[in-house]
Amino acid sequence: MGCQYYDPCDNGATSFTVAMPRLTFGRGCLAELGTRAVGRGFKHTAIITDPGLRDGAIVARATESLQRAGIDVGVFSDIRIEPTDQCAEDAARFLRDGKFDSVVSIGGGSAIDTCKSALVLHRQKGELLRFFAPPVGNAEAILEPLLPHIACPTTSGTGSECTSLSVIRVNSLNTKFVIASPFLLPQEALVDPACADTLPANMVASTGYDSACHALECFTSRAYTQHAATDPAGVATRQLIQGCNPWSELIASKALQIADEYLERGVNDRSDREANDQLMWGATLAGMAFGNTGTHLAHALSYGITHLMADVTTKDYDIATPFIPHGISVMVLAPAVFKYTAEATPERHLEAAHHLNSQLRDVTPNESGDALEERLIGLMKSTGGPNGLTALGFITEQTDALAESAFRQKRAIGNAPRDSNLVDVTNIFQNSQNYW
Ligand SMILES: [Fe+2]
Repeated sequence: MGCQYYDPCDNGATSFTVAMPRLTFGRGCLAELGTRAVGRGFKHTAIITDPGLRDGAIVARATESLQRAGIDVGVFSDIRIEPTDQCAEDAARFLRDGKFDSVVSIGGGSAIDTCKSALVLHRQKGELLRFFAPPVGNAEAILEPLLPHIACPTTSGTGSECTSLSVIRVNSLNTKFVIASPFLLPQEALVDPACADTLPANMVASTGYDSACHALECFTSRAYTQHAATDPAGVATRQLIQGCNPWSELIASKALQIADEYLERGVNDRSDREANDQLMWGATLAGMAFGNTGTHLAHALSYGITHLMADVTTKDYDIATPFIPHGISVMVLAPAVFKYTAEATPERHLEAAHHLNSQLRDVTPNESGDALEERLIGLMKSTGGPNGLTALGFITEQTDALAESAFRQKRAIGNAPRDSNLVDVTNIFQNSQNYW
């Protein structure tokens, strides 16, 4: 590609794939849902949403739009934040029992990811566990197209409307894992920033952290040319964690610039419509970007936090303890992660630091890790983020257990620009205890 970052490697990939749903973005576009659904042949549609949205204005608008277009609608909302395999099984049963021909997911990542996993179980009965990557599952392939799916996000973080991934907590293992398949990509995404107007500030912060880390992990992930080449016979299911590529890099850089300019504004002034809408656009861009590269260490290690969290819950989230919002579990590790990974590709990290901090001046590549660390800590400080793992209730003695749990996320760890062993991962948790 004529760029040093993508220089060819022995036995490395020489091509990459970009997968996208048809995307409609803009204030008020949820009103297009019925017309778009009819255009795809929807007749009997399940809305999958979370209990907090079920009786609210957004689901009412979506239902009205579908019904006005002549579509029968059923609503499933028995899911929770940090959805579990049980939620997905229940939703799959709802789809089967109701003989639905299509789905619309409405909500944050919890609703959209539950919907995706439910579609898998609706098509291929059995336990969800077998679709996860080793060592948890045996990465069983999803073999055929799933029911058609239109995704309508209501938070500015997940990006799940644009990815072929579903993240689900496995109850029996008490931690989260990722299912990846091209068949999980929704056919359409309707991203209406008005759906996020009433989100409280701390949810805008945690989802904004998630979005910023999606973009930053995408931008700094291992180049696709450093991942093993895909057998030409298998390109239809090319590994979704394919690493950074010129297309994702372009999209991620814009998502980082949006986080730089609008995250603090959007969190600290909930009446700032421009910031609200830009953050929604940034989250969608980051979803498009990391959906075609994969994330790396910040996300991988965050799963250790959600595995071992105890007696912690977060203001304004209507959920029983223990609970730490996904975006916070990622962001609290990010300063230590990017300081660590910058050693492997300092120029690329410097570029990322400039996108995330338009005020940055006179920094050398060797200082890029410090610059990113400082910017991420600054963003947390100015938006009410936690001061390290101790602020989330973890104690130093838990560091080894956190590292051992997180180290199971082999695929994402392998997408980082720097090779890591268990000691490296332990050190990152150690360096995330306190930041200021
Ligand atoms: Fe995420």
